[in-house]
Formats: sequence, structure tokens, C-alpha cells
Amino acid sequence: MDYYELSNSQRIPLIGYGTWRLKNKEETIEIIENAVKCGYRLFDTAFAYGNEQMIGAGLKKSGISRKEIFISGKLWNEDRGYESTIKACKKTIENLDCEYLDLYLIHWPASKAVHKDWEKINEETWKAMEYLYQEGLVKAIGVCNFKVNQLEELLKSATIIPMVNQVEMHIGQNQEEIRKYCEDKGILVEAWSPLGSGKMLKIKELEEIANKYQITIAQLCIKWCLQNGVLPLPKSKNLERMKNNLNVFDFEISSEDMKLLNEMPYLGGSGLDSETITLFG
Ligand code: A2P
Repeated sequence: MDYYELSNSQRIPLIGYGTWRLKNKEETIEIIENAVKCGYRLFDTAFAYGNEQMIGAGLKKSGISRKEIFISGKLWNEDRGYESTIKACKKTIENLDCEYLDLYLIHWPASKAVHKDWEKINEETWKAMEYLYQEGLVKAIGVCNFKVNQLEELLKSATIIPMVNQVEMHIGQNQEEIRKYCEDKGILVEAWSPLGSGKMLKIKELEEIANKYQITIAQLCIKWCLQNGVLPLPKSKNLERMKNNLNVFDFEISSEDMKLLNEMPYLGGSGLDSETITLFG
């Protein structure tokens, strides 16, 4: 698979495999082996998913060598802060049994709604992320779910600009403002729920466009991310659908259709807002 290049020149596969909601040990190990067989090389994980050990075991069982895969992990909210971030990262590396992480992300920013000192918390956490990067425990660092104002605040004290911002993005939630800001700062945007957690797959207008190209709606959604310069992280437990989601390199969405898709109204999504979120602390 081809690569994007992060601002530190580190290469990252164009499409990643999302691992949220993989819970059952035996099933997860098999799914990860299948994903490797299909050609996935980027695995997006998080401490909060509770499956790091299963994913590590699946990757080991697949027989693929460490340097051929790109493992991305996320710091959970309860571990924010300097010392606890470093500790949490080491634990994640141990759980995944992977020596180092290719990318480590802050899962959610400390939000205004929950923390009076949200700026300070994010600053301290980011300092630890920079330390982890400088020490070589992680090859790249970034954030998730950061809005423009939250990134602006972080950049006031950061000595390293995040290399990635992973946000919810799918047709109807195109994150134009964040994408423009990130592009300007050299931050690669990754899309979680590129299929809107499956919601996009039921939209009639999308079906019509996909039919025109003789592709599935999922392929349309994934290619739409790529043509917007974004790295999609689709999730599927099913072998055929996993393959389908990688099979997006022999067609091109026309500029007229891209415009149409970029201008689609909100079609549904998680509804989570990282500025006001109180759900995750
Ligand atoms: P399944 O695991 O049964 O394939 P998202 O990545 O936006 O969170 O969406 C994930 C959801 O979309 C899952 O329910 C997944 O179900 C479904 N899905 C993933 N890929 C495809 C596909 N190619 N065709 C249909 N459904 C898909």
C-alpha cells in the first residue's frame, strides 16, 4: 500500500484498520490475522478499547514482522498529565508487546466543560508526548478529536507540532475547518468512523453515486476521504468487507461528485463534540 508522509518524514499507510469494538479474544485474534492477510498494515488501537493484548497477539500470530506494520495507540483520558502519560504509554507498548509505537495519540482533549484548567492539562500531557517521541518510545505523536481552538491553544506551548489529528469524519461531516487548519500546519488528518459507523451505507443518494462507479457505498466513503487528503480508518469484522474497504485504487471520484459529496448536509454521526463533551472526563 502507498503511504502518506508525516511532518517528520515518517511514512504511514494510506488506509488503516480500526479496532474499536473488537472485544472477544479468539475472534479478535482471528480478525487481526485476516486484516494482515488482506493487506492492512496500519492498526489503529486505543487503551480504552480494552483489546490491546488481543491485537498484539493477533499481529504476532499473523507472522508479520514488526517493521512491516504501523501500530498506532491512544492515551486514555484518565491518564492525562506528565508522569501518568509516560506510564500509560509504556503500559500500552507492553500490552501490545510491540517494542515501540509508530504513532501515539491523545484520545480526547481535556475539555472546557469538565476542566477549568483544560489548557494546562493538555499542555502537560503534550510535554510528555514530546518526551516519549524524543526518547524513541514512539516514532510519531499526535492528537485526536482536537478542534481548531484546542489545537491553537496546544500550539502556544508545544515545541513539536502534532503530526496527526484523528477526528470523526464522513460524508455529511466533512470537517472542512479542521482540515484546512491542519493542512496549513502540516498535520495529517485521520478519519474515524469513515462510514459514519455504518450510517452512510443506508443513504440513497450515496448509493446512486456509488452505482455510477460500480463500487460499494463503503468504497465511495473511503475514497472520498483519500481524495480529501485524509487517512480513513474503517472497521469491519468481515473478511470480504475488509477487502472491499482496501479495494479503492482503481477508480477516481470525479471533481463534480467530490463537490457534491463535500457539500452534503449532515447525514448522522456520533454527535460527540470535543469542546463540550463531559461523557469521557
Ligand atoms: P461489519 O463489521 O459487519 O463489516 P465505521 O468504520 O464508520 O465505524 O463503520 C463500521 C460499520 O460499517 C460496521 O458496522 C461494519 O460492519 C460496517 N462495514 C464496514 N465495511 C463495510 C462494507 N464494506 N460494507 C458494508 N458494511 C461495512
